[in-house]
Amino acid sequence: ALISMRQMLDHAAEYGYGIPAFNVNNLEQMRAIMEAADATDSPVIVQASAGARKYAGAPFLRHLILAAVEEFPHIPVVMHQDHGTSPAVCQRSIQLGFSSVMMDGSLGEDGKTPMDYDYNVDVTRRAVAMAHACGVSVEGELGCLGSLETGMAGEEDGIGAEGKLDMEQLLTDPEEAAAFVKATQVDALAIAIGTSHGAYKFTKPPTGDTLSIQRIKEIHARIPDTHLVMHGSSSVPQEWLEVINRYGGQIPETYGVPVEEIVEGIKHGVRKVNIDTDLRLASTGAVRRFMAENPSEFDPRKFLKETVTAMRDLCIARYEAFGTAGNA
Ligand code: G3H
Ligand code: 13P
Ligand code: ZN
Repeated sequence: ALISMRQMLDHAAEYGYGIPAFNVNNLEQMRAIMEAADATDSPVIVQASAGARKYAGAPFLRHLILAAVEEFPHIPVVMHQDHGTSPAVCQRSIQLGFSSVMMDGSLGEDGKTPMDYDYNVDVTRRAVAMAHACGVSVEGELGCLGSLETGMAGEEDGIGAEGKLDMEQLLTDPEEAAAFVKATQVDALAIAIGTSHGAYKFTKPPTGDTLSIQRIKEIHARIPDTHLVMHGSSSVPQEWLEVINRYGGQIPETYGVPVEEIVEGIKHGVRKVNIDTDLRLASTGAVRRFMAENPSEFDPRKFLKETVTAMRDLCIARYEAFGTAGNA
């Protein structure tokens, strides 16, 4: 059944687990997530970015998610809009039937320009008023995702600050977070702790200086009742990088957010963990390997099936590590 994000995260907080929020763009991702959730008895958050709507088209995305609910009626599903850049974008998603939206007022409508606190409060408060009137949850964001080493946002085409960010933007301030939640009444808050979107998060395995789990603890201590969200939380599995590069890919050395650091975050209020890049890496590795090993095959179902298996196994691993398993 389709439920609101608030309902799902309240349960997660009560029982102390986290929920991976996987981005969906196509049938294979959707199927992989649902099969993994079914195998582990996990509740599901699937999210669609602006890029996903552009790729698949809003009606196809909507029906993809509704099809998942129809085929797996026993699994609670949140249909979440990722990184909405204005209340109007959120409104369109609510009309489309999403049960949760993100109003990302940390950036302007272009998804690139860092905005100030007052702007963020204003747009987020307006999105909340509209969404709550429809029984839809809202995730806000305070602080800007970006590397603590370089001050740069991720290399994704979609959402990310342009230019160098300063330290104040890169780490969410606990006091400001408390004021923001009070002023906006968001259901969940995305925070900046040194993660960024995409595969190129860290040039070496992160330490406390580049990934601040400490900051999560400080924010959670200040606003213990607020559900925290970690963006840019792909772990960038070294084994998938190895497969991709073995079969013709060229991805330079890079590191993501270790699963055990996310688990530590979950002990301190993190309830939603956004993961997109890991599914992309697993898909690409699976396709490259299949193509190299089966050069005479030409039925796309053969290699797409490999992507489903690869993504499903990754989703199962996250559901188990985050304590999501057994909570559907
Ligand atoms: O917000 C970042 C997600 O990875 C979505 O990326 O805009 O390329 O679909 P996208
Ligand atoms: P990754 O690029 O680390 O998968 O992050 C995805 C994300 O935060 C989507 O909002
Ligand atoms: Zn994000």
